[in-house]
Amino acid sequence: MTASLSRRHLIGLGLAATTTAALAACTPAGVTPMPTTSAAWIPPTDPMRFPTGYTWGAATSAFQIEGSTTVDGRGPSVWDTFCAEPGRVRGGATGDPGADHYVRWESDLDLMAELGIGAYRFSVAWPRIQPTGSGAVNQKGIDFYRRLVDGLVDRGIRPGITLFHWDLPQALQDAGGWPSRDTAYRFADYAAIMFDALGDVAADWFTINEPKTHAFVGHWYGGHAPGLTSPDAAAAAVHHQLLGHGLAVERFRASSAVGRIGIALNLAPIYPISEVFADSAKRIDGRENRLFLDPVLLGRYPTDAVGNLRGLVPANRAAFDALVLDGDLATISSPSDFLAVQYYGAEGAGFDGASVPVFPTSSAPWQQVHPEGLFDLLTRIAADYPAIPLVITENGMPDPTSAVTVDDDHRVEFFRTHFQQARRAIDAGVPLEAHYVWSMLDNFEWAEGYEQRWGIVAVDFDTQERTPKKSFAFYQGVIGDNAVAPA
Ligand code: FCB
Repeated sequence: MTASLSRRHLIGLGLAATTTAALAACTPAGVTPMPTTSAAWIPPTDPMRFPTGYTWGAATSAFQIEGSTTVDGRGPSVWDTFCAEPGRVRGGATGDPGADHYVRWESDLDLMAELGIGAYRFSVAWPRIQPTGSGAVNQKGIDFYRRLVDGLVDRGIRPGITLFHWDLPQALQDAGGWPSRDTAYRFADYAAIMFDALGDVAADWFTINEPKTHAFVGHWYGGHAPGLTSPDAAAAAVHHQLLGHGLAVERFRASSAVGRIGIALNLAPIYPISEVFADSAKRIDGRENRLFLDPVLLGRYPTDAVGNLRGLVPANRAAFDALVLDGDLATISSPSDFLAVQYYGAEGAGFDGASVPVFPTSSAPWQQVHPEGLFDLLTRIAADYPAIPLVITENGMPDPTSAVTVDDDHRVEFFRTHFQQARRAIDAGVPLEAHYVWSMLDNFEWAEGYEQRWGIVAVDFDTQERTPKKSFAFYQGVIGDNAVAPA
């Protein structure tokens, strides 16, 4: 398995590629969308203004930008271990240097102020706070995030603090990791430490980043740390991450933290490539979306997400059900203040639960770019689930080249069309409050190492020089006008 094919939808794409090539040639207009409808949409000729108070943000994560993986008492994480294993990460890359943000954080915050964002979403490296995942707190770790948060507040930028963005302390992995229930309790303890340390700041807290990617790619496909290939481990990692989320929300409510809290889910509209594949699309929707949305927002698991049928997580359903103890779903569905949605693209459904490509991909082969899918996704969540404020916490695309470049017209177009769809969703009544782009900086893109660049600021990883790309200037304009203009 090569690194470039190691992510999210590899399995479905690989299985389906040849048999569905002809069907996949259907134009998007010929596709019957599922579960909502995406009629061809023409942008208005005037700029689309956003509501006053709409939040524009940018996002990063600790392991991807910080570097300095062995300083100030930081313990090893599963990603340090994974990077050290030959063949796991493109070019043998590791979390060092990252974007050297642990050292350069202050000038990075200045760049954010120049951009004009109202919120910055970063993640806390758990192994900096508790080097072995439990027990004593490493004060130097807390101090780093305190400086960061204070620096943001000084610049008028609201902190968005993600507690878990995949860098589990290795010691917890050695004790069983997320497939083990105990990790959920360790996570809640660590979350409470952070609420005590930074809870005085008006911030948005994100419990877990993309539990799906961490569970599926890390525990089932083997393309991310911890590199397991067990659907049963993946299903258990889903439940225990969601339990960890719920426990953290409960600890948040019991703390004196003044901010808001929710979970960040990556979701995708699923379009059958023909109406005859509607059932197929429903299964994939169960696996990709409802397996996460239903427990968090409805307090129950769907019955068609885990099990034997193709398209589901192929884990033992009875074993999965046995993990869900009395009270777990009440905890998981403890009311959040918002739902954070991460949108990268859509997916197609073919014969018998096969994921197939229907939209053009970016240089990340798993990403099928479809701006209207954002509208479909947001309106679907608003229609199918109890009312809850929505925030988009990741949205972006990589450069077509691994070289340092600032010419990213493709990204300008991506943002323009996705901002338009977000605004369109607000018009349709969706309570959308914020849009964060991924990413503030070029960074370590997991199994792709430093070869896939997602930043609006280019980083030369040899010199650590930062250069804003065209998309930075474009975004600055959008933020300044609080509006997105037609092309
Ligand atoms: C998301 C991750 C983020 C980054 C982008 C490209 O799934 O949350 O860390 O890798 O994809």
